[in-house]
Amino acid sequence: MTLDKYLEDRRGLIDAALEKVVPSEREYPETIHRAMRHSLFGGGKRIRPILTMAAAEAVEPRVNTVERAACALELVHTYSLIHDDLPALDNDDFRRGRPTCHKVFGEAMAILAGDALLTLAFQVLSDLDDVPGERRIRMVTELATGAGTVNGMIGGQVADLEAEGKQVDAAHLDYIHRSKTGALIRASVRIGAIYAAADRAQFEALSKYGTHIGLAFQIVDDILDVVGSTETLGKTAGKDAAQQKATFPALYGLEASRDQANLHLAEAVEALRPIGEPSVRLREIAGRIVTRSA
Ligand code: IPE
Ligand code: IPE
Ligand code: MG
Ligand code: MG
Ligand code: MG
Repeated sequence: MTLDKYLEDRRGLIDAALEKVVPSEREYPETIHRAMRHSLFGGGKRIRPILTMAAAEAVEPRVNTVERAACALELVHTYSLIHDDLPALDNDDFRRGRPTCHKVFGEAMAILAGDALLTLAFQVLSDLDDVPGERRIRMVTELATGAGTVNGMIGGQVADLEAEGKQVDAAHLDYIHRSKTGALIRASVRIGAIYAAADRAQFEALSKYGTHIGLAFQIVDDILDVVGSTETLGKTAGKDAAQQKATFPALYGLEASRDQANLHLAEAVEALRPIGEPSVRLREIAGRIVTRSA
């Protein structure tokens, strides 16, 4: 199967699983379910849940129904996008090719839709009755840590906002990117590994892979904000410079930022070595993260 076919196939499984776990638009109170679905089903690459699935497959090629667990990552990610776009944060009008959640439903409902998606993610993991309790708890802890304040997504979002308009050094920029984006991507990979009962060596290899592709992902996001178009990105291009965000292109320039993304790609691929053949998809996905144009 080609990588494109694989990605399309996994996206289909994830979307079907999301469809089942998110209450229908007819469920009372309808407004919140419409707001959640507006952001969730408005496009999106589904890269985090795909990483969860591919990591589980790298550990256990015959693994099945991992898409239910993978949904939790997309729920947390989508919540983070809704809140990231709020006027108090990045103030974006456009996301996944549509008007942002607050533009359509108002700020109050967008805040609540984010809260609801976050909460639902933990319910989904807790409800995985085909996974033994001990591993379910590890997955819950992994998601909470990745989304949290200490080296996690919220910590990174705080540092990102506080760095606006300021000169940051390389170490601080690294912290922002590893935390706001890298941590959830790493958690996506680790949750797949836990789902498939990875041994310690596999878990460490996959964690290292996740760290490097997580950072590479945000470096490329920064590059695309400069070189991409609003149309292809499905979100407003050129916003980072306008808001004086701390980004890789701002600190290093485009060329050196691309070099850094490629260095992390090489490290990610190297990390997969102990896993060998079953990690081929993860290697391909890492390549795609760096060469993508959206
Ligand atoms: C955008 O993530 C926000 C970042 C953390 C960089 P994606 O580029 O994965 O966005 P979607 O899910 O495809 O919309
Ligand atoms: C987003 O970083 C990180 C999170 C949403 C946690 P950005 O602010 O760069 O993401 P985009 O560019 O708006 O998607
Ligand atoms: Mg932001
Ligand atoms: Mg943003
Ligand atoms: Mg960005």
